[in-house]
Amino acid sequence: MKGVILAGGLGTRLFPLTKITNKHLLPVYNRPMIYYPIEAMVNAGIRDIMIVTGGRNSGDFLSLLGNGADFGLKHLNYTYQKGEGGIAEALGLAEHWVAGEQVCVILGDNIIEKNVAKAARDFIAQKKGAKIMLKKVDDPQRFGVAELKGDKVVNIVEKPKQPKSDLAVIGIYMYDARVFEIIKTLEPSDRGELEITDVNNWFIRDGSMTYEVIDGWWTDAGTFDSLIKAANLIQQGGANKLG
Ligand code: DAU
Repeated sequence: MKGVILAGGLGTRLFPLTKITNKHLLPVYNRPMIYYPIEAMVNAGIRDIMIVTGGRNSGDFLSLLGNGADFGLKHLNYTYQKGEGGIAEALGLAEHWVAGEQVCVILGDNIIEKNVAKAARDFIAQKKGAKIMLKKVDDPQRFGVAELKGDKVVNIVEKPKQPKSDLAVIGIYMYDARVFEIIKTLEPSDRGELEITDVNNWFIRDGSMTYEVIDGWWTDAGTFDSLIKAANLIQQGGANKLG
């Protein structure tokens, strides 16, 4: 399975911290934010990785990460997203490189305490469809929220005012290669983006979506409050360092 890390977007919720740099290059305790999703990918057993960046500071990713030696990698792949057309648009840019394989996608501002190695193995065995990771949160309105019936996810609503559950869809997704055809059919949402939640609802309707509730803490780091929360969690309890 290939791995795509999405580190484009403008990071407007962190302005002015993101006025002269990319959000994913900001420090989160003792490492740049982008280190954490790369570590999560490597810990999931995925070593064939592409980073999607964008904006004025995209060249800095190369200076920082090079070929991924800090993560025990021989090579890293990069591509460029012009503008901020959404998570699904950013993923679509990796189609040529994923080349028909299964793909694991991690959002560049998502940090997990443990790892998703078992979920990745399960998804490789599942072969077809998609898999999402869920986590119980206190503020589901900020996220994509899953509605469950029995052991199935029956719907996901992006940032609902009245959430049907407290299970957030975290920014780690696994798909079969049909994902790229689905992305081509999407229309921009009210916020002008191609939404990953629309992709996930397609797989739910297809009957091929599975999920796992992850162990350990999870946070994004894309707002002032979540950025400091992430730093404190890492300081107190470590995070998904390699190994
Ligand atoms: O953190 C998990 C949440 O991430 C999910 O629960 C939501 O369903 C999902 O839509 C997403 O919500 P956000 O609104 O918080 O996503 P955000 O716009 O902050 O983008 C998250 C990452 O995706 C960001 O760090 C970089 C990447 N991205 C985003 C956009 C809009 C891109 O690479 N390109 C983009 O155009």
